[in-house]
Amino acid sequence: MADFQQRDPLSPAFWDERFERHFTPWDKGGVPQALQDFVAANSPLTTLIPGCGSAYELAFLAGQGWDATAIDFSPAAVAQGKLAAGVHAARVVEADFFAWQPAAPLQLIYERAFLCAMPRAMWPQVAARWAQLLTPGALLAGYFFFDDAAKGPPFGIQREQLEQLLRADFECIADDAVSDSIPVFAGKERWMVWRRR
Ligand SMILES: C[S@@+](CC[C@H](N)C(=O)[O-])C[C@H]1O[C@@H](n2cnc3c(N)ncnc32)[C@H](O)[C@@H]1O
Repeated sequence: MADFQQRDPLSPAFWDERFERHFTPWDKGGVPQALQDFVAANSPLTTLIPGCGSAYELAFLAGQGWDATAIDFSPAAVAQGKLAAGVHAARVVEADFFAWQPAAPLQLIYERAFLCAMPRAMWPQVAARWAQLLTPGALLAGYFFFDDAAKGPPFGIQREQLEQLLRADFECIADDAVSDSIPVFAGKERWMVWRRR
């Protein structure tokens, strides 16, 4: 880690450098099981994957007939995501989560390693943007990383902090253990579904 030039995770260059040097310890290399189960249990939803990285989930969702869009502000991440997306590459878009506008109302935002990629001071802005992008009844579903280490990314959250962050605009409707975590998240992540109030 020590010789990375870029130290600010709010800059696309931080993530470019790590993708270009193949230092991606958050990358699962596939589609997590709880998302697969969620898709099996639900009708297709218009979905956004913010901070998609390698975007394995995009091809999976699109292959199941879901109207999914994956965005990332790092050109290197987008290049990798497009490779993984194959015939669905056009659905992987270079964009900043805080500026991107949906073409159609979103029914689902999928979260994995995006909130924890952000310094904690940014979390209220992330939560506000989630709430802004989702109308009542729409879902925020995915993986939340619980940890209190000061240094990151990944920046872990505390359960009470997550409740505080989301409870004004979201109601938690699922909170499950994760069976297939990769080492960096093992024992510290939960699959959660939050419904927009
Ligand atoms: C830790 S990686 C996680 C990637 C992917 N979600 C995964 O599970 O493998 C965080 C990603 O968020 C992207 N990102 C960070 N801030 C962003 C922003 N404001 N808009 C779009 N993407 C952003 C980074 O470029 C990086 O690819």
